[in-house]
Amino acid sequence: MNTLKFENGDLMPIIGLGTWKSEPGAVYNAVKEAIRLGYRHIDCAFIYGNEAEIGRALKESFEKGMVSREQMWITSKLWSNSHNPADVEPALMNTLADLQLDYLDLYLIHWPVALKKSVVFPESPQDMIALVDLPLLKTWTAMEAQLDKGLCRHIGVSNFNISRLQALCNDARLKPEMNQIELHPYLQQPGMLDFCRSQEIHLTAYSPLGSQDRPPGLKTANEPVLLEEPVITDIAGRHGITPAQVLIGWAVQRETAVIPKSVNPGRMKENLAAAGISLTSEDLREIEKLDRHRRYVSGDFWAVEGSPYTVADLWGEK
Ligand code: A2P
Repeated sequence: MNTLKFENGDLMPIIGLGTWKSEPGAVYNAVKEAIRLGYRHIDCAFIYGNEAEIGRALKESFEKGMVSREQMWITSKLWSNSHNPADVEPALMNTLADLQLDYLDLYLIHWPVALKKSVVFPESPQDMIALVDLPLLKTWTAMEAQLDKGLCRHIGVSNFNISRLQALCNDARLKPEMNQIELHPYLQQPGMLDFCRSQEIHLTAYSPLGSQDRPPGLKTANEPVLLEEPVITDIAGRHGITPAQVLIGWAVQRETAVIPKSVNPGRMKENLAAAGISLTSEDLREIEKLDRHRRYVSGDFWAVEGSPYTVADLWGEK
């Protein structure tokens, strides 16, 4: 299977199973089936609310000898209400307990946004902590400490823009090894790819299929449906593959990790098989023209009225 290589030689399988929006009740079977199908990378997060169930599926898979812990790559993410340095280790320990693991392969700061400890999602500006009061570097230093303790093998970030990555590269003891961001043909982010290549930071593409199952509050009217994009369906038809496989194959060809979410065994199999797809330079040229800088996850839920956060500042796109 294709992999991304980290500085210490560790290999991350390039296609992982996404678990955002995978309901408790469905994700247990999905993870067990994924492992049976050959997935060796599962992308998790505390906020997805399903880590305990994923943990049960992992434990049973290890016990049955379907796979060993060392053969799996497990990522999770620190939620925004635990950015205070003293809260980072307890949050990680909680995730490890739920996942029934001794260590994570990769732990990410989920968003460059801080919330008060008692808050899960912000409803008012009082729920939030401005970054001037709780700088990301402080949270990052606590992430470095988790690495030193062996509770995770790699640390990184998610939803960071270039200037925030640059700041960590300049100021931190250890640079982030991963930035997990939304990436697909409607949001290609070539500047981010160039920057990350130059700094040897890996990228993971989330919402690679356009996340049509995301909550209604995150959707907008008449949004373009990536899986129905004619250029993508035409390429799929030419190769005798599915539109999802074109999208996943494209991400793999750009050497970004990619985490399509599915709880359906047939689609999980189809998605994993996309690793072997080879798009032509003509296909790639056509896909390049689709870029319209369209986010499916806009981050506007952080920009509640009076919030210290704005969408423009989040993405560095004033
Ligand atoms: P399901 O879980 O029922 O398979 P994203 O990874 O961009 O968040 O997209 C996830 C959405 O795409 C889910 O609704 C998921 O549904 C669907 N999906 C996953 N794999 C495929 C596929 N191969 N073809 C069509 N839809 C898919």
